[in-house]
Amino acid sequence: MKSQEQLKREVAQAAVAYIRPFFGADAVIGVGTGSTADLFIDELAKHKAEFAGAVASSERSAARLREHGVRVLDLDETDRPLPVYVDGADEINPLLQMVKGGGGAHTREKIVAAASERFVCIVDETKCVDLLGRFAIPLEVIPMAVPIVMRKVAALGAIATLRAGFTTDNGNPILDVAGMQLADAREMETTMNAIAGVVTCGLFALEPATVVMVARQEGVDIRE
Ligand code: 5RP
Repeated sequence: MKSQEQLKREVAQAAVAYIRPFFGADAVIGVGTGSTADLFIDELAKHKAEFAGAVASSERSAARLREHGVRVLDLDETDRPLPVYVDGADEINPLLQMVKGGGGAHTREKIVAAASERFVCIVDETKCVDLLGRFAIPLEVIPMAVPIVMRKVAALGAIATLRAGFTTDNGNPILDVAGMQLADAREMETTMNAIAGVVTCGLFALEPATVVMVARQEGVDIRE
């Protein structure tokens, strides 16, 4: 039986093959964050001569890309949509809606995804769920708003826990929200985004993935 690490590596390799048609001398690739994205970076870097560079959704991914000799651009250095953004997820449902932010990078992930023409989500089969919400929903929050956001979340019937010892690349804390009713993930994303002090909610339901690539014991499934 393949380990989760092997499955992540297989989907990372498959993702590079999948996005090769988007490579070119001017192509800038959007790159996500996390252990699956790290493996994707390692594979992507083998083809660094075939594209111009990458925009990363975190300092961690930017550092890994640079270590491999891939040119890293800031998003504001690009003058057109990125052809593709590739990233992992903590959960993904059949509508390709996701929970992200286990690594606390979901604000920049949402920005780079929004700046891209397609979002290719790469996961191993443990991330596929029918209903989102078993994984707590991360909220990046402005520091002074932590107590009020916790109270507003409690009023929605859920429990927010401050992620201990963690600050995002933007200098903000994360609240992990457990117990949300997520039958309508789009509505819940809208509700959480509307709480004053929330920078970004880790639900990606309003703008789901374009494609999901799922590594299973039998091979990699692609669903668009
Ligand atoms: C980071 C993320 C990651 O994509 C998500 O946490 C999945 O990570 P991994 O590939 O390590 O399981 O959203 O903010």
